[in-house]
Amino acid sequence: MKRIYLHALPVRVWHWINAASFFVLIATGVQIRYRDAIHLMSFKSAVDIHNIFGFALIANFLLWAVYYMVSGKLKVYLPDPNLKNFIQGSIRQARYYAYGIFVGEPNPHHASPDSKFNPMQQIAYFNIMLLLLPIQILTGLMLWDIKLFSGMIAAVGGLKIVDAGHLLLSIFFTAFLFVHVYLATLGHTWSEHINAMFTGYEDEPERAH
Ligand code: HEM
Repeated sequence: MKRIYLHALPVRVWHWINAASFFVLIATGVQIRYRDAIHLMSFKSAVDIHNIFGFALIANFLLWAVYYMVSGKLKVYLPDPNLKNFIQGSIRQARYYAYGIFVGEPNPHHASPDSKFNPMQQIAYFNIMLLLLPIQILTGLMLWDIKLFSGMIAAVGGLKIVDAGHLLLSIFFTAFLFVHVYLATLGHTWSEHINAMFTGYEDEPERAH
C-alpha cells in the first residue's frame, strides 16, 4: 500500500460540516415547501433551522474559499485547458465507470496531492463549488430577507425566479448527493475514499502505479 496525503485538515472540516448542513437543509427545505403534506416539525422550526444551517453553510463555504485561495491549490479544481485532453480524459473515466470497473480494470486516474480529481470530478466539482453553490447561497440570502435584498431580487427578474432557482438547485444537489456517495464508494475498498476524507490519507495498492 502507498499512503498519499490528499485532503488537508481545512478541506476535511469543510467537507463534513458541509455534508451535515446539506442533510439538514434538504430535510427542512422539504418541510418548508410541503408544509401541508409532511409533518417532520412545525413550519416555524423548519424555517428557523433552515436559516441557522444556511448561515453555517455560508461561513463554512468561506472557510473552503479562503483555504483554496491562500494555499494556491485551487488548480486541482481546474479542468485541463486543452479541450482535447479534457474530453479524452473524461471519456476514459466515463468508460471506466460504465464498463472497466465491472471487469476489474484499474482506475485510469491516480490521485496525487496536485491532481486529486479525475476530469469528470473536476468539471463537476468546479461547477458545484464556483457556480452552483454560490448561486444557491445568493438565492437563499434573497429569500431569507426579501426586503433587504429587494433590489437584487428585482435585478434578477423577481421573487418567482429566485424561488424557482433555489428550488431547482436544491433538486440538483439532492440528485448529486446520490451519485456522489455512490462514486465515493468506488475505491479499491468501498470505504477507501470516505476514510481519506476523515484522515486525509488515501491508501492505494502499489501495483496501481
Ligand atoms: C454523506 C455524504 C457525503 C459523502 C459520503 C461524501 C464523500 C466524499 C468523498 C469520499 C470525497 C473525496 C473525493 C471523491 O471521492 O470525490 C468527497 C469530496 C468532495 N465532496 Fe463529498 N461527500 C458527501 C457529501 C457532499 C456534499 C453534500 C457535497 C456538496 C457540495 C459534497 C461535495 C464534495 C466536494 C466539492 C468534494 C471535493 C473536495 C476537495 O477535495 O476539495 N460532498 N466527498
